[in-house]
Amino acid sequence: MSKDIGIDLGTATVLVYVKGKGIVIKEPSVVAIDKNTEKILKVGKEAEVMLGRTPGNITAIRPLRDGVISQYEITQHMIRHFIKKACGTMIFKPRVIICVPSGITEVEERAVVDAATQAGAKRTYLIEEPVAAALGAGIDISAPNGHMVVDIGGGTTDIAVISLGGVVVSESIKVAGDKFDEAIIRYCRRKHNVLIGERTAEEIKKKIGSAWPREEARALNVKGRCLIQGLPRMIHITSQEIPDALEEPITAVIEAVCSVIERTPPELIGDIISNGIVMTGGGSLLYDLDRLIEYATGVKTRVAQKAVSCVAMGTGKSLERLSSLPEGAINISRR
Ligand SMILES: Nc1ncnc2c1ncn2[C@@H]1O[C@H](COP(=O)(O)OP(=O)(O)O)[C@@H](O)[C@H]1O
Ligand SMILES: [Mg+2]
Repeated sequence: MSKDIGIDLGTATVLVYVKGKGIVIKEPSVVAIDKNTEKILKVGKEAEVMLGRTPGNITAIRPLRDGVISQYEITQHMIRHFIKKACGTMIFKPRVIICVPSGITEVEERAVVDAATQAGAKRTYLIEEPVAAALGAGIDISAPNGHMVVDIGGGTTDIAVISLGGVVVSESIKVAGDKFDEAIIRYCRRKHNVLIGERTAEEIKKKIGSAWPREEARALNVKGRCLIQGLPRMIHITSQEIPDALEEPITAVIEAVCSVIERTPPELIGDIISNGIVMTGGGSLLYDLDRLIEYATGVKTRVAQKAVSCVAMGTGKSLERLSSLPEGAINISRR
C-alpha cells in the first residue's frame, strides 16, 4: 500500500505526517555540507548541533531560511532525506502534499513540486500554509465564514483571511522568529557591548522573552564576547529588556496584521471579530505576543493548541481530500 504523506516544509522546522500514523518527523530544517566536496554530511537534528560551530571545511545551513527555495539542490536533498526517513523503503512511491507560504510565486511552486518529485514522490500537491494552519487548528474552513490566521515561523510570518476553503486576503513578510533573535543580538551589542550567538539569542527569547513587559520579571545569565576587550564575558539580562529589544520586528508583524485587516471585505471583518484571530507557528509562542496583537487590533486573539504542529496536522488532514481533487490540480488550496 502506498503511504500518503504531508510535509510542512518550514524555514526552521520540517514536520512529516504519514496517513494513518500522524506526525512521525519533527526536525530542524538544517543541512551540513562539506564545502570542499559539496557533499551533504548531515540533515536535520544532527546537522543542527553544528550550526555556528563548524570547522572551516564544513558549513551548516538552513536552505529555506528566507522562506523560499533559494538553495534548490540542498532543499531537494533535504526533502528526499525526510521522505525516505518517513516511508522507509519506497516500494510504492507516496503521494505528497507540501505546504508552502501563501506568497509563493509560480516559479517557486514549480521548484517545490520538482524537488519532491525528484525526491521520490509519485505525485506532489501543494497547500497554502495559512489554509493548512487553519485546518490544523481545528477551524471549519469550508463554511462561508471568515477566519484570520497568523502563522509566525522562523523565516516568515504568514497572515491570511480564509473563507470557503480559500485565502481571501493575505500577506507574507520575512519577519518572524529569526528576526526576533537578530534583534536580541543587536540589543545586547548596543546595550551591553557583548556579541552573543544566534542560539543564545534564541534561548533568551524562549526563556525570558516577551512582547510586553512581564508582570514577574525574570533574568538569565548568558555568555558572549565583549566588544571592547575582545574577551569572553557573562551578561545578566532581564525580561524587562526584551520588549524593547524586539520592538522593531514585533511592530512589523503587527503592521502586517493590520494591513490584512484593512484589506478584508467588511462582511468578513464581522466574522473575524466574532471568531477572533488564531495564531500558529513557533514564533507565536513568544510570551504575550497574542495579548499585544489583541491590544493593537482590538480583536480577541489566541494561540492555537500545539501551535508548532498545526500546519503539519492540517496538511495531514488535507490528504483525505486528494481523491476528490480535479484532474491536474496541484495547489489544492487554490481554485
Ligand atoms: N517558546 C517559544 N517562544 C518564542 N519563540 C519560539 C518558542 N518556541 C519556538 N520559537 C520560535 O519559533 C520559530 C520556529 O517556528 P516554526 O513554526 O517551527 O517555523 P517554520 O514554520 O518557519 O519552520 C523559531 O524562530 C523559534 O525560535
Ligand atoms: Mg511553519
